[in-house]
Amino acid sequence: MATFDVIVIGAGPGGYVCAIRCAQLGLKVACVEGRETLGGTCLNVGCIPSKALLHASHQLHEAEHNFAKMGLKGKSPSVDWKQMLAYKDEVIEGNTKGIEFLFKKNKVTWLKGWASIPAAGQVKVDDEVHEAKSIIIASGSEPSSLPGVTVDEETVVTSTGALALPKIPKSMAVIGAGVIGLELGSVYARLGADVTVIEYLDAITPGMDGEVQKSFKRLLEKQGLKFIMGAAVQGTEAKKNGATVRYKLKKDDSEHSLDADVVLVATGRRPFTTGLGLDTLGVKLTQRGQIETDSHWQTSIKGIYAIGDAIQGPMLAHKAEDEGMAVAEVVAGKHGHVNYGVIPGVIYTHPEVANVGATEEQLKAEGRAYKVGKFSFMGNGRAKAVFAGDGFVKLLADKETDRILGCHIIGPGAGDLIHEVCVAMEFGASAQDLALTCHAHPTFSEAVREAALACGDGPIHS
Ligand code: NAI
Repeated sequence: MATFDVIVIGAGPGGYVCAIRCAQLGLKVACVEGRETLGGTCLNVGCIPSKALLHASHQLHEAEHNFAKMGLKGKSPSVDWKQMLAYKDEVIEGNTKGIEFLFKKNKVTWLKGWASIPAAGQVKVDDEVHEAKSIIIASGSEPSSLPGVTVDEETVVTSTGALALPKIPKSMAVIGAGVIGLELGSVYARLGADVTVIEYLDAITPGMDGEVQKSFKRLLEKQGLKFIMGAAVQGTEAKKNGATVRYKLKKDDSEHSLDADVVLVATGRRPFTTGLGLDTLGVKLTQRGQIETDSHWQTSIKGIYAIGDAIQGPMLAHKAEDEGMAVAEVVAGKHGHVNYGVIPGVIYTHPEVANVGATEEQLKAEGRAYKVGKFSFMGNGRAKAVFAGDGFVKLLADKETDRILGCHIIGPGAGDLIHEVCVAMEFGASAQDLALTCHAHPTFSEAVREAALACGDGPIHS
């Protein structure tokens, strides 16, 4: 048995960041992780491996579609799938080993095994009980499936199975047009699969700005993805080679089916708290199984905190990281804070899609007076030079005060561009503040400035 100031349960982006920050603040800290490697879902079977496959498949897309236009002639590369998976695994290893190094550097003890909490102040890892003044649950989430859909991670897969398919399927049915479905659907479409996305709602990527949703769907369709909208999936049946997806169209209740080599279930994730013993302890959960926390991330039990996908809010690695750093400050007796109004969201398709703050639909629903500044990447010289003129930047600002309320980008480097707007919003900036800031030419970021100019006297290049 060992005694610590803090024990963090889970070494995903929430947990490992929290453990490192606790150590930096002078606390004696351990982090429990049952996987063979650190980094949680994000590094092992989520954000990082999917980005490796998105990168590789995008290079193929560029070779097939844009190389000849630039005078780069010759045969397009063929896909060595085994090598592509090996590259992805190498990326994972480099990142997870990196966290191991950071733990050593910061003197964070890695307790290997699965944790439970027998009582406040105690964490049991396998058969050993350790003590800590504060316990922080960062146990993350797991894919949630649908009734009638049996995931075998071979034919009917979640994102985990989709990142390690034995071969590139000829056809893929994706259930759910959310972030996972569209990122991984894009990967396989670029690699030659016939991809059909089946979505319950009438728009893709729920919660996103309406104009972006429409433009995004059009661009994905141009890339070959097919969509069946307003369709409730009823179940799947395994066949000799692949599976059948049964769905009902909401408009007329008619029943249909679709056969595919592989079915990707991407209908959301749910908090993963199995085995922690929260029931026995009496830790309160919400109706959706999230751990209830107060404004300092403390659960209903004193000294036990929770962060990340296991609690309320968007299931995003960077939201978990921010909470990890903030709760570390709290248990160290300082003031931790997360600005939930300025959490960016990014979809790493091509083009990328990014957003922060309010959507136009939200502002309308609130009855707020706002103005819209929009600028197309067609008017951006750099974007045109690299065949990336599809998409736009849409900035929303208060009609009276000009304060920035939200930003929605679809286009090249959107996931990076959004951050200048995040910083501006953190400082309570106006659209004019962005418009008067010098932006280097030629960069994609000029499109953000032009959108800000469009909130005032008008953009120059449109
Ligand atoms: P999601 O919640 O983003 O999308 C799920 C979609 O499935 C929704 O559009 C929903 O309407 C649809 N759906 C649900 N039931 C259905 C049914 N019976 N038939 C047809 N459609 C149905 O969930 P997703 O994509 O699985 O992602 C899970 C979480 O992981 C999300 O919170 C997401 O933010 C996060 N994530 C974030 C990434 C990023 O930031 N780039 C990458 C991957 C995941």
